[in-house]
Amino acid sequence: MKVIAFHNLKGGVGKTAAAVNIAQLAADDGVPTLLWDLDAQGATSWYFAPEAAKARSQPKAARVVKGKTPIGHLITSTATTCLDLIPADPSFRNIDLQLEKHGAGNTLRQWLEPMDEDYGLVILDCPPTLSRLAEEIFAVADKIYVPLIPTWLSMNSWEQEQAFITDKNLDKKKFAPFLSMVDRRKSLHREFLDTPPKALKRLLAGYIPYASDVERMGEHRSAVSHFAPRSTAALAYQLMWKNMKKQLKL
Ligand SMILES: Nc1ncnc2c1ncn2[C@@H]1O[C@H](COP(=O)(O)OP(=O)(O)OP(=O)(O)O)[C@@H](O)[C@H]1O
Ligand SMILES: [Mg+2]
Repeated sequence: MKVIAFHNLKGGVGKTAAAVNIAQLAADDGVPTLLWDLDAQGATSWYFAPEAAKARSQPKAARVVKGKTPIGHLITSTATTCLDLIPADPSFRNIDLQLEKHGAGNTLRQWLEPMDEDYGLVILDCPPTLSRLAEEIFAVADKIYVPLIPTWLSMNSWEQEQAFITDKNLDKKKFAPFLSMVDRRKSLHREFLDTPPKALKRLLAGYIPYASDVERMGEHRSAVSHFAPRSTAALAYQLMWKNMKKQLKL
């Protein structure tokens, strides 16, 4: 089982859009996939399982966060056979507190270990923070994919993330940035594509374009590959999935 995370401490950069689209492509490719919406905002859950997102079982999730119930009790199925979901829950806001209490730094790893029998891929859609939870995610994930909008401000958040990784003694090689919401009409975006800044090590090939089809996912409540399979956005996520599959040896 491989674990990947979509993370950036900056909000609104396309983490959830990538997590949802990659999860759907992985599942459609026959990889048993579990998508965990770790962001209490619940955007991922809303795309895939609106009913589950509405009927959040707060007491159950709170018990999981306290380590009293196995994480498997929170799993819900989706319309795709190979794709399951752990919907967001307001009690996930307290995960950091619980992780602090446990102290060991591998609580998330322990929670995910039993998933190994049922899934080939676990995808973590992360909240935009550099917290104790982020530290555990970075430790347990085989790869952390970091969407970056081509602006200098995004480079600042990438550098902050890099400083955090160095500070916590984590493996920098696990981190792969990719360009997200790229608008080729903007000269700065074209510059980033032609000559990516040197600080962007291990930049994934390809990029996710700024595309109205991604915004329309909310209307269709599904991945772009399902309602606009030949769109530029669908092709971009397909290429990304192909690269990830190779990297992860799936
Ligand atoms: N490639 C894209 N083109 C156009 N719009 C996009 C693209 N990717 C994401 N969006 C839109 O931008 C908004 C933020 O995207 P998304 O929720 O994926 O970001 P996020 O990084 O997960 O944000 P948060 O940090 O709040 O969780 C959403 O309205 C989404 O529809
Ligand atoms: Mg999100």
